[in-house]
Amino acid sequence: MAFFRRASQPDPDVDVEIGSPDRPRTGDTFESVLTQRLARRSFLKGAAASGALVATGGIATGGLLGSASTTAGAAAAGAAEGDMLTFAPLPPGGGQTADRIIVPEGYKSQTLLSWGDSLKAGVPSLDADSARDGYLLTDEAVAHAADQFGYNNDAVELYPLASEDGMEHYVACVNHEYTNEDLLFPDWGNADAYGVEVDGEMEFDATAYVTANPNSARYAWAVHGIAAVEIVRDPSTNEWSYVQDSPYNRRITATTPMTMSGPAIFNDLLKTAADPVGGLEVLGTLNNCAAGDTPWGTYLSAEENVDQYFGNYDAYAESAGADPKVIEAHRRLPLPGGPSYRAWEVVDERFDVALHPTEALRHGWVVEVDPMNPTAPAVKRTALGRFKHECATTIEAENGRCVVYSGDDARFEYVWKFVTAGTVNHDDRSANKDLLDEGTLYVGRFDPDGTGEWLPVVYDENGPLGPENGFHSQSDVLIMARKAGDILGATPMDRPEDVQANPVTRKMYVTLTNNSNRTAEPELGERDGREVQLFPNESNPRHDNDWGQIVEVDEGGDQTSTSFTWEIFLMAGDPRGDGQFLTSLDDIELPLGPNDTYYAGYGDNTELAAFGAPDNIGFDGVGNIWMVTDGGQPVEQNDGCFVAPTEGPTRGFARQFLSTVVDSEVCGAEFAPNFESVFFNIQHPGDGGDLFEPTSAFPAGSKDDGDNYVPRPSLIVVNKADPAADQRIGS
Ligand code: FEO
Ligand code: CA
Ligand code: CA
Repeated sequence: MAFFRRASQPDPDVDVEIGSPDRPRTGDTFESVLTQRLARRSFLKGAAASGALVATGGIATGGLLGSASTTAGAAAAGAAEGDMLTFAPLPPGGGQTADRIIVPEGYKSQTLLSWGDSLKAGVPSLDADSARDGYLLTDEAVAHAADQFGYNNDAVELYPLASEDGMEHYVACVNHEYTNEDLLFPDWGNADAYGVEVDGEMEFDATAYVTANPNSARYAWAVHGIAAVEIVRDPSTNEWSYVQDSPYNRRITATTPMTMSGPAIFNDLLKTAADPVGGLEVLGTLNNCAAGDTPWGTYLSAEENVDQYFGNYDAYAESAGADPKVIEAHRRLPLPGGPSYRAWEVVDERFDVALHPTEALRHGWVVEVDPMNPTAPAVKRTALGRFKHECATTIEAENGRCVVYSGDDARFEYVWKFVTAGTVNHDDRSANKDLLDEGTLYVGRFDPDGTGEWLPVVYDENGPLGPENGFHSQSDVLIMARKAGDILGATPMDRPEDVQANPVTRKMYVTLTNNSNRTAEPELGERDGREVQLFPNESNPRHDNDWGQIVEVDEGGDQTSTSFTWEIFLMAGDPRGDGQFLTSLDDIELPLGPNDTYYAGYGDNTELAAFGAPDNIGFDGVGNIWMVTDGGQPVEQNDGCFVAPTEGPTRGFARQFLSTVVDSEVCGAEFAPNFESVFFNIQHPGDGGDLFEPTSAFPAGSKDDGDNYVPRPSLIVVNKADPAADQRIGS
């Protein structure tokens, strides 16, 4: 079995005293610390290639602070059996509706960082309940927000720091995806106070609200984006904390200056009044959803639903001066015709498409951030294409190239990967600085026979991605990547969310969260600017697909391959519900029914967890898949985390590990490199209500206890309750 080591994993270097690895001494520069870390990494890479670490077991479990020999032996046995999951799962039939985080017996969850927590000396943490008094609309709140933990945290990735104090130290990079204005600002949504008449009815008018309260836009900008925060675990107690004034702490917001790089820059489509060069300086990153980390220790943040922030497209499109090339560039990622949802265009005209028609094209990219260098600008890497990037997860191929997977999260959109032209340099970190600027972007075609092709998304003056279809450069191809995917014949999928390789088996998993627009009969429909077949296909086999599926992709161990085989790993739902419980998908006839389920062929449906809308995934040290959900559930329950082996006799046997609070989604399932802690982001808690009556009081309290606090999106971490127990999560 090929083992792969995450680049961000602390190095299980036997020369380092247990519990006191290489934390920087006072005066060490970030660069010298990196040199220490990378020197170890290159040693490990060689060892992994020779299989030496498989024999010692160091790779599968890390075991930096635990009992390396014990965990390694168990990991090896588990990999052979395919199932080491010994936690006592939550009941399989649902029913978890409490307004609290529930984890199995023997585990504990801790809230580590919440919206408004101060990340800088001299800045106070937010009293979230002050939002009810309109505090967030004050200049002071706006000024502080850019130095506090942001809102609606989605992704989390960990970057180990050296340590000499017996603690585990990491920089955690977290995405702040979007804002729930009705949980932040009084009278947001109140049509009596800020109304406009539409067809005889009064409707809420965001433009009127923002005109009267422009700080609603400025506050939202400050809590969007990315946070980097130093976090610490005390392994003797399993208590976590964050370092409020760490030099690594950093916020990037919707207005932070950054740059663009790669083949798309300098295109007229990226030029604006403020940046006539087209990529020299971009203000901010928007709708940062899931993420990934690179083998050289940087953070890749994925810009997803960026369209929602730009208003007044129709006024531009209908104007005499509208440029047909700009219109075409927006066709497949359409913008709101009138005011945007948050009406930011009232406060900053760059969000007004009628005035700045290309600003939106500078968003929808993958952004690279160096957590070890808090002053380095973030960079939008255009070689990875522009679409609604759900994620940007990486794996280093055997030949040393870095492969980045990304889903385009919309109904009937595509699965993508990018393969760098160069190889990862493990000896000189700075040599990887521009690795993501050169390489080949591919889009996936999933054929009915279980094979597939990665189609190169490359400009060709004599081919379909050339002038005959309106492309005049690779830059055009990347800016209009969805259109290129259409022309190449990529397979329209059911909302591709996380796309991630299993580090143990190196198979790749595509989470397709749901697609209620799949029809029971063949039917063409217009979706996002093009006509598409709405009827199911083999990799998206259910009509009215509310519960989602996960597709397993085998690239034969070579992630740079242009061909692959695929099969459906799991069709979520209620395995004891009114659909068929399938144990084989051979010879199925399309379409399958909305409630048909399939759990990788696992044959006993009595103990399988019912769940729907898998979104993010993670993998533990033996290759079990950890699936977290965002959306409606097939049984009465909150969103949660569900775990299944991917190999062995219990492949597909999904069990519930965590249940979240009311009206929140669960993001992450991100393991610490030693697999002794697992992180989740609890996003938009309580968003079924409003600021004064939210449906969750998390994390300060619980609605079940009668509490009515303003809920705070939070990063939580789950550990074993007993710090003396075997610390590995899941077993
Ligand atoms: Fe931001 Fe597709 O979830
Ligand atoms: Ca997501
Ligand atoms: Ca989501």
